[in-house]
Amino acid sequence: MTRLNLPELEACPEQKPPCPHFEECGSCQLQHISQETYRSWKIKNVQNILKDNGLEAEVWLDPVFVEAGARRRVTLNVLRHENEIIIGYNQYHSHDLAPIKNCLLLTTRLQAVVEKLPAALKQIAHKNQSIEIMIQEADGGLFDCVITGLDETGARQTGAIASMAEQCGLARISFRKDAFSKSETHISLTSIKKTNGALTVDLPAAAFLQPSEDGETALVNAVLEGLERQKMGKKDKVVDLFSGCGTFAGHLLKKYTVHAAEGEWSMANSLIEAAKGNSRFTAEVRDLFKEPIVGRELREYKAAVFDPPRAGAKEQAQMLVKSNLPLVVGVSCNPATFARDAKILIGGGYKLKTIKIVDQFTWSTHTELVGVFEK
Ligand SMILES: C[S@@+](CC[C@H](N)C(=O)[O-])C[C@H]1O[C@@H](n2cnc3c(N)ncnc32)[C@H](O)[C@@H]1O
Repeated sequence: MTRLNLPELEACPEQKPPCPHFEECGSCQLQHISQETYRSWKIKNVQNILKDNGLEAEVWLDPVFVEAGARRRVTLNVLRHENEIIIGYNQYHSHDLAPIKNCLLLTTRLQAVVEKLPAALKQIAHKNQSIEIMIQEADGGLFDCVITGLDETGARQTGAIASMAEQCGLARISFRKDAFSKSETHISLTSIKKTNGALTVDLPAAAFLQPSEDGETALVNAVLEGLERQKMGKKDKVVDLFSGCGTFAGHLLKKYTVHAAEGEWSMANSLIEAAKGNSRFTAEVRDLFKEPIVGRELREYKAAVFDPPRAGAKEQAQMLVKSNLPLVVGVSCNPATFARDAKILIGGGYKLKTIKIVDQFTWSTHTELVGVFEK
């Protein structure tokens, strides 16, 4: 059972979930309530988390709700059972697979690729082996694919990987042993790029992209609006912390001088390459949990943007409060760790000026937000 029966939703009239897989699939929890209830639950949920942490934003900006059918990135579980390939998501809080034929969250382009996977994977997946497949769309509608947990030697020998790329319209296929291993690319038909504002980077395999274009646009706009609170020009430096492939950095670069810090080597390296010859952009690979940017380094910046993984940015927040940085914009996909980090910033003299909810994890319990802090 995947639906989330929260006490506060009990009294709400139920609706027929739009997806036929809803009762088995663990991906969505909130399709059985009306859109109005869903949206107000998401807002209330974030408000409650902040309130429980003693936090109050001066202004709640209008939330953005990304519609279903917008996801350009998906990670699916695959199981080969005898001659049959089963593709889907895990069931709620379980490792059991819920087979999915049509996911309403995905763009029609991505759904079309997913539908071609079973036939192609027959040549690649071993019997009773469970693997994971990540596909995301980059510039020019090119699809990048990373397969995790598969020994691909046999498939390489038979040319099955090349057939899969052709059959499914994948521009690149890489493999990795597990989520922590480096991806090895086995077929790359063309270079895969991602353009963010003024920056075009080579997208490494398994790179982080915001799950939807609409969500990315909303987050970028919220970050840019937040930074407008400070009078800054092209010579003023902004630091983009946990920058990924430069989703924010590229847009910031249109208005400011930018430094990006990212912990994952291949993404940081793409930014370092893109920075070559650009006098207003620099980038570094840096583990911001172990080695956050410290007070003396922060002196050269007018503002900071941080967008950490779900674990949050505690160590970096502890350094930000030691700086005199007047403006900090925090993006988070986890309101709980955001609240913890916000408390650190507020304890260090910042005020939480605005919060904007960007709901791009449609129908799930997860919510993303952007908070603007001023000192
Ligand atoms: C939520 S993503 C945001 C990326 C980027 N801001 C974007 O919008 O595309 C978080 C990023 O933090 C990076 N990251 C995770 N742990 C890190 C660490 N300890 N130090 C630096 N970066 C880290 C991840 O590799 C990932 O790129």
